[in-house]
Amino acid sequence: MCDKNPQKINQIFDSIASYYDKMNNYMSFFTHKLIKKYALRDLNIKPNSKVLDLCCGTGDFCSIINSFNRNTMLIGVDNSQNMLKIAKQKNPKLVFVQADCTKLPFSEEFSYVTMGFGLRNIENRTLAISQIYKSLKVNGEFLHLDFGNHNFASKIFDFIVILMIKLLKADAKSYKYLLESKNSFPQPAELIKEFERAGFKFVKRKDFLFGVISYQIMRK
Ligand SMILES: C[S@@+](CC[C@H](N)C(=O)[O-])C[C@H]1O[C@@H](n2cnc3c(N)ncnc32)[C@H](O)[C@@H]1O
Repeated sequence: MCDKNPQKINQIFDSIASYYDKMNNYMSFFTHKLIKKYALRDLNIKPNSKVLDLCCGTGDFCSIINSFNRNTMLIGVDNSQNMLKIAKQKNPKLVFVQADCTKLPFSEEFSYVTMGFGLRNIENRTLAISQIYKSLKVNGEFLHLDFGNHNFASKIFDFIVILMIKLLKADAKSYKYLLESKNSFPQPAELIKEFERAGFKFVKRKDFLFGVISYQIMRK
């Protein structure tokens, strides 16, 4: 059982914020940004639309969305102050808000909601999904990206993470949590059913790195 107590999760991300980007680069062999770009391009955000990036962390999704489409009204939301500080340093002109994804103050405001590697960390996933649904306009789209199938390739990834923890002297406890959360997170097919139970309609799914990473696009 993976403990996702919100205070504990916040402490983890506050404590790893300074080397979070570096670890992501090494763990994914620098592929994570390409995958994020591919997924966001596929979402095909229309000019002048409002976009909400949840669990924005150090702001990767926000940077990419902003580089594609400078006319979007984009808000990045995260609970960790230290992750947000780095997001703001990387994107000084963008708006970032500290908030919990299970208590979002938005109603039918956004044409797009994006979330990368975030939902896996949230204790009350059903509540977070319902908050995403509430924040979207009718016909608005939700892009969800995270780890995918629990297959052999995924086991190889686990081994790489353990290796990187040692090489980069990263906080072993925090990255042990990463593996626990990854391996207890529903696989994409189950996740799509959870999104559908919240009212979403399935649009598409794409898998990368032999299924280790997957994204799903759902419509309200
Ligand atoms: C693995 S990082 C992902 C960051 C970024 N989206 C990326 O793709 O690199 C997960 C982020 O989710 C945030 N987070 C976890 N639970 C949250 C919650 N309940 N509300 C808001 N943010 C949360 C953490 O602070 C962390 O920055």
